[in-house]
Amino acid sequence: MDTLFNLAESILYQSTREQVIERTQAAQKILDQTALNLEFDCPVRAVTEVCFPARPVLLPPREMPRRSLNSLEGKAAFFHALAHIEFVAIYLAWDIIYRFRPLPEAFYRDWLQVAIEEAEHFQMLRHHLRQFGVDYGDLPAHRGLWNHAIDSADDLLARLAIVPRCMEARGLDVTPAMIEKFQNIGDKTSVDILSKILHDEIGHVKTGSFWFKFFCRQQQKDFEQTYRELLNDYYIGKPKGPFNREMRIIAGFTPDEIDWLEQLHE
Ligand SMILES: [Fe+2]
Ligand SMILES: [Fe+2]
Repeated sequence: MDTLFNLAESILYQSTREQVIERTQAAQKILDQTALNLEFDCPVRAVTEVCFPARPVLLPPREMPRRSLNSLEGKAAFFHALAHIEFVAIYLAWDIIYRFRPLPEAFYRDWLQVAIEEAEHFQMLRHHLRQFGVDYGDLPAHRGLWNHAIDSADDLLARLAIVPRCMEARGLDVTPAMIEKFQNIGDKTSVDILSKILHDEIGHVKTGSFWFKFFCRQQQKDFEQTYRELLNDYYIGKPKGPFNREMRIIAGFTPDEIDWLEQLHE
């Protein structure tokens, strides 16, 4: 596993579920090194060939069972869905490392840090799930998430606009209300887990915003206009609101970008 790209390829194309986690956690050692090995000679493999574990079974969103947080089954289903989002997020972080090259070393360091944090989120949720007698993979999961990676596999700006600045940013909108719900039912463990995830996810969106603006500047593009165009081209339907203005601004959105998102719903 000499280069970062070889490691990324092994995780995306040849790993069991446990290996995805182990190899991602072990990548902390790579991040601690003074220089990353960014050499490459092999071609980039197709995004459509990325291998996911056989379980969970993936279903179209409309076939996902409905859930209420008032029952144990409902809570288990909620945290299973979240664990799946984090599992796919590990792949998304490795995929942006793997697919787009050569880029500045700082770019790869940032997404390696994201991959490691996503693995940490996944492990926390998996441990939590087991308290309900459910393991990750026992329930079906949402099929749609990876489609965004497939759609934006040839365009780094689209990937940054759609994944961190759309999907992950959505987490900033919805997680505070989830935390409040668990607070109201006195579930401190769930509150702590979701609060830690929310804190880290602000950082992931911020990283996405930073690199989106960086590459727009490099290509002499206006980043706000480019964001609007890419969302129109790559995102099917309107991004869902309401939007958490305060957190999105911390995460690198401009007030104008949020105004535009809100106007889509008027
Ligand atoms: Fe996460
Ligand atoms: Fe994330």
